[in-house]
Formats: sequence, structure tokens, C-alpha cells
Amino acid sequence: MADTSSALYGGERQRRLTVLDLRAAKERGERWPMLTSYDMYTAGIFDAAGIPVLLVGDSAGNNVYAYPDTVPVTLDEMIPLARAVVRSTSRALVVCDLPFGSYEVTPEQAMTTSIRVLKETGVQAVKLEGGRTAIDAVRRIVDAGIPVMAHTGFTPQRVNTIGGYRVQGRGDQADELIADAEALEAAGAFAIVLEMVAADVAAEITKRLSIPVVGIGAGPHCDAQVLVWQDMAGFGDGSTPRFVKAFGDLRTALVDATKAFGDDVVAGRFPAEEHTYH
Ligand code: KIV
Repeated sequence: MADTSSALYGGERQRRLTVLDLRAAKERGERWPMLTSYDMYTAGIFDAAGIPVLLVGDSAGNNVYAYPDTVPVTLDEMIPLARAVVRSTSRALVVCDLPFGSYEVTPEQAMTTSIRVLKETGVQAVKLEGGRTAIDAVRRIVDAGIPVMAHTGFTPQRVNTIGGYRVQGRGDQADELIADAEALEAAGAFAIVLEMVAADVAAEITKRLSIPVVGIGAGPHCDAQVLVWQDMAGFGDGSTPRFVKAFGDLRTALVDATKAFGDDVVAGRFPAEEHTYH
């Protein structure tokens, strides 16, 4: 079927989006949304809504697996989630995070992990964290034919070194962060996530790079914005960071549905005649 819209968000293309589509959107100056997803229902809903990029994030650590952060997440835990998201979508470009410990040892380890992720899940790209320390890994993975989304600024896998959830790029750190972003683009990354970065620095990086810059807590000037879907939908318990906006109240909706079910069972109202076989 012919492409009837070139828009990334909500466009009508009946095919998987590619890294070239993202690059073209940057050239057009078009902004786009990205969400995390870890399961078939949300993946299908977000894909149908036209979200162009879905991230199977290692934020599964504290949003699926009940770990305190992303550090404990393993590759074996990421793969089934990524597979489900790919199987449930037909348009979104699906990116899978490389979890902590699966790519930092050598560029060969990074490449081998990325090949396994692509073969076993069907995702179109991988994401890894780091600045200039990660460029050999990025280069090696890209050389193997796998698109890489980089992630710099606040990098949750290094929370223990950074010493907490701290805004990056302020003051003297700004030039370092800009140099990291430029090095990641030069190494072949097709996009960069900037997490918890001072807005003026994120704006400068967005202006300098010809690849899309995806912000999360990085101000309004990035090419794209990403949120963890549970934060976006208001599923959280209220302890979300400042950069999160809840666009719905799924927690209340689910609490209400759960109570209604429980009350009906206890009162003998469910199952009713229409739910009963004879
Ligand atoms: O794992 C994740 O969800 C992420 C996003 C916050 C960008 O890396």
C-alpha cells in the first residue's frame, strides 16, 4: 500500500518505520513521541495510536520485575519482553535496551549481545548507555549492521557511580556532555536519548546533531520525547520525578475495576445469568 502520510506520529504507513524515517523527520523539523513497552497489550495500543518508536527499556527492572533500579536486569529477562512487543506491532520501530553487564566488557561482547537480541526478538535496534566510554561498542555494533540508539546524560545503569538521580550537564559538565553526544553521533548512533539534562544544553546538542535527540527530563527543545508508559498513563504511586507528566489515571481505573469485581463476587452478583453456561 502506498504511503499516505509521511508524519512519524500517527502517519499511515503500512510498514515498519526505519532509522531513515527518523532522520527524515529531523530534517523536516518534525517532533515525535516515544514510549516504553514491555508487553503485548500496551505495544498493540501504542502502535495503533501511531507512536513511531517503542523502547523495551531496562526500566522493566523497576516497572515489571520489582527491582529497585535497572542494575539487576539480565539479558534473559529482556528478551521475552522484546519478543512480545515485536509480535504485537507492525509499524513502530522497536528498540531493546542492552542491560547492565551485557556490553561494557569489550566491543565484541557488545556486538555478540546485540546480535543475540536481534536474532531472538526481531527488534530493529538496540540501545546502550554511556558517553565517549561507549563509542567503541557503538562502532562495533553498527559495523555489524545493527542500529544503535545511544543514551547519555543521566544513565540509570551507573546510578551507583553518579550517586543518585542528578541533573547532568550543568556548569562545567556542559562541554563534556556536548562532546559525548558529538562522539556518539560520529561513532554511528542513529539517535541519542538525553536523560535529566539541563534544557539549554539539550537544546544546544539538538541543534548541533543531525541525528534525532530524544529527551526525558531534558526540556522542550529535543526532537522527540520519551516517557516510561506507566508514568505517562498515571499508573505510578505518586513518587514520580519532576519531568514526568501523567496523561491519564490508570491506577484509579484499575483500583476501581478491581474493587467492583471483588464486591460483585462477594455479593453473588458475578457471574450473572449471561456469564453462565447451561
Ligand atoms: O529504560 C528506559 O525506559 C529508558 C528510558 C527512560 C529512556 O532508558
